Amino acid sequence: MIHNETIDNILTRRTIREYTAEQITDEQLETLIQCAMWAPSGRNGQPCHVRVVQSKEMLDEMNVDFKNLVGWDTPAYTNWDKNPFYQNAPTVFFIYAEGNSHMDAGIMVENIAIAAKGMGLGSVIIASIGGLLSAPEGLKWKQKLDIPEDYKFLIACAVGNGCENPAPKPRKKEQFKVIKAD
Ligand SMILES: Cc1cc2nc3c(=O)[nH]c(=O)nc-3n(C[C@H](O)[C@H](O)[C@H](O)COP(=O)(O)O)c2cc1C
Repeated sequence: MIHNETIDNILTRRTIREYTAEQITDEQLETLIQCAMWAPSGRNGQPCHVRVVQSKEMLDEMNVDFKNLVGWDTPAYTNWDKNPFYQNAPTVFFIYAEGNSHMDAGIMVENIAIAAKGMGLGSVIIASIGGLLSAPEGLKWKQKLDIPEDYKFLIACAVGNGCENPAPKPRKKEQFKVIKAD
């Protein structure tokens, strides 16, 4: 097994669900935006439109809309009982696209998560907010985020200074097989 900084950041990234209130720096933010922008995309279509929200007021308003829609007592998501959907991280990336560009958005969001790790920041990839943003009620948020009505919400990622160190979740090694030439 080879180790270097890139590989170790991939191997040691964990989903972080506890953050300090401290905002990331503008230099860290610009680095994350560049790493998202330089993600590969199918046929270099670059279909993703990204909005980065650093307003706690706006995120909390979105959280209220979300929980009003899907239910305040729905124990469907991790830390549902104590945290908002964005796990109290101070910066949240929202990725939208025209059409079903889930693959491109997934690759972009992983770039964000790994780049965050590389700068000593924590991150959590968030699909749950799609419960609001993909519903008809999500139109209000497309308008607030300046996203055209016919674009689809694909994925979000919250980033900040993490203050937990969760244990690694076991991986399913049996799902990987190498087939070599005879
Ligand atoms: C596509 C995707 C959607 C996810 N959505 C959420 C989410 O809505 N809320 C959340 O707290 N974590 C979410 N996660 C984080 C996963 O729960 C986490 O990656 C998984 O438990 C493995 O843990 P690890 O990232 O620490 O290895 C999501 C991860 C992915 C890749």
